[in-house]
Amino acid sequence: MTAEPLYHVVITDDWEQSAMAGEYAAATGGVAHETGGYLRATTAAGLQDLLDDGYRDLELPLTLVTLDAAALRAEGVRVEDVPPHGARVYAPLRRDGGPAVIAAAPLHREHGRWVSPLTAPPAAEHSHILAHPNVLYVGTPAYLVASTNPDGSANLAAASSHFALGTMLCLGIESDGQTALNMADRPGITVNFPSLELWPAVVRLSRLTGRTPVPAAKADRYTYEPDKFGAARLTPQPADLVTAPRVQECRLQFEATVRRMTPGVDGGYFMVEAEVIRVHADPALVREGTDDIEPAAWRPLVYAFRHFFDRGDEVGWLASSRMAPHPPLVD
Ligand SMILES: Cc1cc2nc3c(=O)[nH]c(=O)nc-3n(C[C@H](O)[C@H](O)[C@H](O)COP(=O)(O)O)c2cc1C
Repeated sequence: MTAEPLYHVVITDDWEQSAMAGEYAAATGGVAHETGGYLRATTAAGLQDLLDDGYRDLELPLTLVTLDAAALRAEGVRVEDVPPHGARVYAPLRRDGGPAVIAAAPLHREHGRWVSPLTAPPAAEHSHILAHPNVLYVGTPAYLVASTNPDGSANLAAASSHFALGTMLCLGIESDGQTALNMADRPGITVNFPSLELWPAVVRLSRLTGRTPVPAAKADRYTYEPDKFGAARLTPQPADLVTAPRVQECRLQFEATVRRMTPGVDGGYFMVEAEVIRVHADPALVREGTDDIEPAAWRPLVYAFRHFFDRGDEVGWLASSRMAPHPPLVD
């Protein structure tokens, strides 16, 4: 009996309509897989073949539904393996948020065929070529860091380099910006995370510095702007514990104190360690009755190779998740 996740391909419209009906009764319109009172599923290894054999010519939007076979069986549903990669599920799927349906994500077509998101990249010796990207920004959430200028006004800078460990944030901050100067003298900052709709505000900030005169290395690309909030069309919101304001439009805001600034090896940046002392969240992001951010509700603005992205669909979780319905199905 397979304990791996099972995958079922469904026409997106059918899947969405079944949510209203409360159950998905295996009616994949027009595709002759689901006959005989069962729903046809596959393990990850069989998904690409299933897409090629059964769905290649179908251009309606398709959704990949991930099922937990153990949870189905625990609900009393008969799940039969069909070697080598198939399975049959002998009951409609409940659409009431029960544990058997782990995820539902849109499938994508490339070069005239549906592509399994589960197929591992080739492991052959010559599977990679040398690449020479001019930046190494593989994808981190963008953030807006607010600091306090010498005259008490606020500065705001777009950034993306960071990581978090415990309550500490480590920010990569260019040493010739006003933000670095402010952090060294006035350590209270806010780190604000924009979501998708705010990408134009990040672009508006991208050629502005709060430093005057503009440093020589930036003079051809940047102009001095004393009112970054206004220029970005964002609203300063008072913080509770630090002088730098929060960015009201950001759904997730950290108040933090800079604890240490370590020069980077080439002198061009500081590794800024800042302790987060307060977190503000849009209530829609917090799971009711808990203090936890609902991962599915939070959609940071991902900055990768100078482009902005949504964060994509959920594909799994850690055993330490406090929100997941059950431990991850990983052998
Ligand atoms: C999407 C994006 C990401 C950026 N990431 C960083 C970063 O991680 N660290 C940094 O210091 N500057 C980053 N910058 C550049 C700063 O915004 C720029 O240095 C700006 O001059 C800082 O403003 P300031 O001089 O007022 O501090 C980024 C800019 C954009 C648009």
